[in-house]
Amino acid sequence: MVKSMQVYEGKAKKVIPLDDGKVIMEFKDDATAFDGKKKAQFKGKGWLNAQISAVLFKVLEEKCVKTHFIGVAGDNRLIVERLKMYPLEVVVRNVVAGSLKKRLPIEEGRELPEPIVELYYKDDSLGDPMINHHHAKVLGISEGEIKEMERIALKVNEILKEYFAERGIILVDFKLEFGKNERGEIILGDEISPDTCRFWDAKTKKSLDKDVFRFDKGDLINAYEELYHRLTGEA
Ligand code: TMP
Ligand code: ASP
Repeated sequence: MVKSMQVYEGKAKKVIPLDDGKVIMEFKDDATAFDGKKKAQFKGKGWLNAQISAVLFKVLEEKCVKTHFIGVAGDNRLIVERLKMYPLEVVVRNVVAGSLKKRLPIEEGRELPEPIVELYYKDDSLGDPMINHHHAKVLGISEGEIKEMERIALKVNEILKEYFAERGIILVDFKLEFGKNERGEIILGDEISPDTCRFWDAKTKKSLDKDVFRFDKGDLINAYEELYHRLTGEA
């Protein structure tokens, strides 16, 4: 969460407030998984995640989704609007993978009949538990706010699912975070990167995301570079 005028350092990013209502988000080369139990560093990951997030925020802005993105500010850094973040992770799923396998009796890789939206309370000491609208209300987040976040998350899904499909990639699932700006609007914040999404090559079903690190499936930088190349055409 952004604390005023104080640098906040998370597991994969640093958030540096500026004095004009803007914030610098610096992407680190650190990778963690399973609530920080698994850790490593990958030279170049910060750059790749910053650039990929910038590309995807621009795609969303073009389709009229309001995001905190303002611009790229150097290799590993984005400039974004300062938001008061909700302590929530909003996950959207199109295909069965990851923790959904423990919740539904459907095998990995099966396409869902319609997208599933899930809410998680961001708290490492509780292990980021899944919550529902009632829990959110106790946390001070209204039904209306949750509905708005879910509406935006499903719109993001429609836009990105098509965008990735055109590039031979299946958008399996992803996690979003939201905040409120000074005008009281609910805005998409944080990052959208291979750290926070599952991307599968449509033909081979090969992971182009952090599952490569979580489950030792190969070289993380190769996978992230491949994704970057598919999005931008750049090497
Ligand atoms: P899950 O299947 O492990 O619940 O993850 C669902 C999606 O959310 C997946 O694309 C990875 C992303 N995610 C995060 O970005 N941060 C997290 O802490 C977790 C658990 C998942
Ligand atoms: N990012 C989370 C962690 O560091 C979990 C994950 O993405 O798997 O623990």
